Amino acid sequence: MASLSSLTKPISQTSCTSLKPVDDSPKSLLVQRNLSFTGRGFGLFGPVVIKGSRLGLSIVVKNSSIPSQPLVEATQIADVPLLSCSEAIERLRISQESYKGKEQYLAMYSSIYGGITVDPAAMVIPVDDHMVHRGHGVFDTAAIMDGHLYELDQHLDRIIRSATMAKINLPFNRESIRRILIQTVSASKCQKGSLRYWLSAGPGDFQLSPSGCRKSSLFAIVIQAQSPPNHQKGVKVVTSSIPIKPPQFAIMKSVNYLPNVLSKMEAEENGGYAAIWLDNEGYVAEGPNMNVAFVNKDKELLMPHFDKILSGCTARRVLVLAEGLVKEGKLSGMRVGNVTVEEGKRADEMMLIGSGVLVRSVVQWDEQIIGDGKEGPVSQALLNLIVEDMKSGPDTVRVPVPY
Ligand SMILES: Cc1ncc(COP(=O)(O)O)c(C=O)c1O
Repeated sequence: MASLSSLTKPISQTSCTSLKPVDDSPKSLLVQRNLSFTGRGFGLFGPVVIKGSRLGLSIVVKNSSIPSQPLVEATQIADVPLLSCSEAIERLRISQESYKGKEQYLAMYSSIYGGITVDPAAMVIPVDDHMVHRGHGVFDTAAIMDGHLYELDQHLDRIIRSATMAKINLPFNRESIRRILIQTVSASKCQKGSLRYWLSAGPGDFQLSPSGCRKSSLFAIVIQAQSPPNHQKGVKVVTSSIPIKPPQFAIMKSVNYLPNVLSKMEAEENGGYAAIWLDNEGYVAEGPNMNVAFVNKDKELLMPHFDKILSGCTARRVLVLAEGLVKEGKLSGMRVGNVTVEEGKRADEMMLIGSGVLVRSVVQWDEQIIGDGKEGPVSQALLNLIVEDMKSGPDTVRVPVPY
């Protein structure tokens, strides 16, 4: 079998590099030639199975992507093939196809190639981009609902604020970025899903300083909505033991989400949906990708202020929509300020608020049951108001996509 050092040509030009299945029957085959996955050691994935597919092959990764323990039993890659550009792209396509059934990526814009692609195999970013190897990037989102982008301008304002704080120059002016984002959604034909986009210091080299980065980058991707989540069901949250980011970093939406990821994992490990951060003074702060709010015994809506946490577009919109509930008498008023843990745990209602969860009731925080342990009426009313706003709100929050 060829070793890397013996491979001076792309695999298509070497004798030992056929990607053909070694056996047609059954349809599922272990790779035996240029991809040898045998023995013990450390590898990226577990056993890889090649199956017949439209393209002839598809790779199926069989173990979970996030092992809870070191990969002591993982298989070892014995021979690494040298690939031509077209072979590498073909493998990207095969790899992408194997993920089908999870999130579907409908279109991507990249300022690197200055256009939009609908081929998932081409939805890649350069490894020397400062965002990839140094985390020097910021991002934001916008929901796509019935062919409209929800709160696009509010999210755009925030990514531009984040980019300024991260000292990332805009590759284009705001209007051009907005146009690119809308055109990317249009090319995707997506009516319901989400748009995610990044501004990065750009590619150039692997140095710490971005001074060698040629030009800042913009990337955007459109993701098809998965089956509708059950927003009505109340969830459990836990207090995060992962330290909250210092305010300077918490108020910007940079790609440095490791604390957020670990916090989410901590919640899941403890049977919760999210872990709640407290700020450096012990007040309630936010969740890993959502804000929090409470309804106290006096029917006041309480929300931590945004000076040490991310200024959530959804939470800000909720504050506007909640004025209607005050008028109807369902709320006595609203207070944005410090919220103590005791106040939070004693509340009649607790909720998570964000573009992903919209408004989700919390029925338990650590060991404390919140209110009567059921989804609260104000949380449900606010969820209905947000969904209604996404479907038929004013022009200021709904940008039509010309398909
Ligand atoms: C840390 C954090 N807080 C709050 C939010 C909620 O913000 P938005 O409502 O704009 O989605 C997010 C969203 O991703 C977040 O990452």
